[in-house]
Amino acid sequence: MISDDELRALKLLKSNTNVIKTNGKTYQRIFPTRKYYVHQWFWDSCIHAMGLIYYEPQRAYAEIISLLGVQWKNGFIGHITYGNKTNNYFPNEELWETKKFSQTGVVCSGLCNPPLLAISLNHIDEVLRDKGEATDTVDSFLDRVILYHNYWKRFRDREDSGLLTLIHPWESGCDNSPRWDNVMENIDLKVIPQRIIDLVKNNRKDTRAGTMANRPLAEYYYRYLYLIDLYKQHQWDTDAILDITPFAVKDVQVSSIWAKANQSLAALMKRRGKIKEADYFSSLAEQTNEALRNCWDEKQKAYKNFDVSHGKKDAIYSDTFANFMPLYSHAASDGQVAVLLKQLSDSHTYGSKYPIPSVSLKSPFFEIARYWRGPTWPIVNLFILEGLKSYSDNEQCQKLFKELVKKTADMIRTIGFYETYDPNIGLADNYQNTLSGMGYEEFSWSAAIYLYLKNKYMEIMN
Ligand code: GLC
Repeated sequence: MISDDELRALKLLKSNTNVIKTNGKTYQRIFPTRKYYVHQWFWDSCIHAMGLIYYEPQRAYAEIISLLGVQWKNGFIGHITYGNKTNNYFPNEELWETKKFSQTGVVCSGLCNPPLLAISLNHIDEVLRDKGEATDTVDSFLDRVILYHNYWKRFRDREDSGLLTLIHPWESGCDNSPRWDNVMENIDLKVIPQRIIDLVKNNRKDTRAGTMANRPLAEYYYRYLYLIDLYKQHQWDTDAILDITPFAVKDVQVSSIWAKANQSLAALMKRRGKIKEADYFSSLAEQTNEALRNCWDEKQKAYKNFDVSHGKKDAIYSDTFANFMPLYSHAASDGQVAVLLKQLSDSHTYGSKYPIPSVSLKSPFFEIARYWRGPTWPIVNLFILEGLKSYSDNEQCQKLFKELVKKTADMIRTIGFYETYDPNIGLADNYQNTLSGMGYEEFSWSAAIYLYLKNKYMEIMN
């Protein structure tokens, strides 16, 4: 029997769906929220598919088909897939000047998003196999997924270091995280042409649809658009961009997702008897995991990211959730796990009533409501709870994993399908007070994560 909460989640995912027709083909996809994010977002959709596979496999496949529909010849897939004709979101489709790379007529942005695709497909494959259902639809996606991984490896790890390079904060999905502040502030506002400042001032829509308290500051938005403008001038040629960009960061969060994605692709290949390919993707995952372990700084008790713009290699430390991400790919060593567990359990840092705040409660950068600078995001919890679970011999990890499943599901169920949540107030003090839910309402991936947890961890939730 499907519960009322599941029905509510499914209903939201249905109403947040749009259908577009391009060059005689129809694509159906779920947008994050009607209030502002009216196109398709890459990592959101990978998550939608992971929740929907339990109920409506065709709709889960539709998410992936739509994402693959915008793939460029070199394997790249942008973080936003356009097609919805509304003009409620900025930057719009035309601004990117990427139509020339589209093979189907459907246009995407010129930036990546965390590579969750193989992780989503591996989960779909496992659920279908558990149910004894056919996996040929998954099979039909795999060549394009390999091409997608080849893009990342070839263009975002030119040094073969195992760590990926991002060229814009939006590529991390954690747009406004303080871990970008230093690199962003190296871009002197004086170099930004007035036409870009005007473009942002005249077109930015998020501050109208949302509230200023949640959204990134104007000075960051100028820089976001400045980088996009620069990359357009280089025709979105990644090699050329990497040579000149002031924003190039080897990032721990996205590299951890990359390692997990390669483990997932290896598992998909192994199940299909493709051992050579499986070994290759496993070796990529191992290379990244080793590199992640080596990013650990014993003094700071944190993993280092690196600013690698203009040939530099400057360490970036950040007291954000990104430090826990090496748990997700099982990269963290036993010693590192012990330190991370302490931080996760400390009520002054990350062990808040509604964990896990995106920035430590103790950090000078913590802001209760501002995007990626404090609020709790269900997707972060998903990564960390899966990571904790993978340390199956560690009792404390198992205990925390189960607690986090329960707390995350309770938070979403009782407060509602918000974009983010207040890590401090939470259900205990403020039951049914919608102030605990922040960002935009009726948010798709919060609903999808609820469905995922409810099915995958049914025995823990009951
Ligand atoms: C915001 C988030 C990003 C997400 C998008 C759509 O931009 O920072 O991670 O993908 O919203 O939900």
